[in-house]
Amino acid sequence: MSKHRVLVIGCGAMGGSLVRGWVNTGAQDFDFEIVTPTPRTDFHLLQHQSVSTYKGHPDIIIFAVKPQILDKIIKDYMPVISPDTTIVSVAAGKTIDFFTKHFPKNKIVRAMPNLPVSVNQGVTLLTMSENTARHSVVETLFSQVGSCFWVAEKSFDSLTALTGSGPAYIYLLTEILGKIITMQDIDESDSTDMAKALVSGSAELMRHSIKSPEELRKAVTSPKGVTAAALNVLMPDMQKLFDKAISDAAKRSKELSK
Ligand SMILES: NC(=O)c1ccc[n+]([C@@H]2O[C@H](COP(=O)([O-])OP(=O)(O)OC[C@H]3O[C@@H](n4cnc5c(N)ncnc54)[C@H](OP(=O)(O)O)[C@@H]3O)[C@@H](O)[C@H]2O)c1
Repeated sequence: MSKHRVLVIGCGAMGGSLVRGWVNTGAQDFDFEIVTPTPRTDFHLLQHQSVSTYKGHPDIIIFAVKPQILDKIIKDYMPVISPDTTIVSVAAGKTIDFFTKHFPKNKIVRAMPNLPVSVNQGVTLLTMSENTARHSVVETLFSQVGSCFWVAEKSFDSLTALTGSGPAYIYLLTEILGKIITMQDIDESDSTDMAKALVSGSAELMRHSIKSPEELRKAVTSPKGVTAAALNVLMPDMQKLFDKAISDAAKRSKELSK
């Protein structure tokens, strides 16, 4: 069986993380080429500074540029997109309708990966038009770099605010913990290492444990103990704060789609 030709447009934070993840795993059934205005020295793949040098038609084209750039460049891709090309977009807020207007005959998948795809531990949301069969090749592709979940497009904006942006919330927590550790007379680089070890160790335990996050939290918390004293402060406000944060982020994702 011949390999699926994949063309990735944009190789910045997200496009670059995806390609790194696929290169790491070998992704044997796929052949990758990239379009990137700034050449990348870290990938030994066929690179194009513009689409004009691309030969033939890809089986899958992945748009990983900023949503505003996509508006400007989408027409440049018409010559390489055949009716058999599946169009995948990772651009926040760009709806399936947006692509259908330009490419009415093509299969279109919206994907929302997050940055841990670069270490093959990402979470990717996938959605297609209603009543369309799930695209198994796109699912296989994104499964190489982590876990994939098919969701309805109406849930995409709020879920994007959770999974796409989610790594930033975890990094913020790590930053805050690191700053608190620095205040205990520990130098800055040790504080950062300690905070990173704390967050990644806890995540790794959660990943391997059959217990739920709630059960794990309770396992660390003795009644009226040290952890309970901290959780009494955090728990009443944290849920409210996250509800508001995710709702504002989902609104922003909707605004970007206009
Ligand atoms: N970052 C995330 O965590 C994340 C998560 C989920 C989804 N996304 C989505 O991923 C998309 C890209 O975001 P990002 O964070 O990766 O942005 P980014 O780091 O700014 O990368 C954008 C890339 O697009 C390239 N580019 C610009 N014009 C181009 C063109 N005409 N043709 C081909 N490539 C072009 C840029 O190349 P040059 O630098 O050479 O100009 C840059 O490498 C966005 O739509 C965003 O919504 C991002």
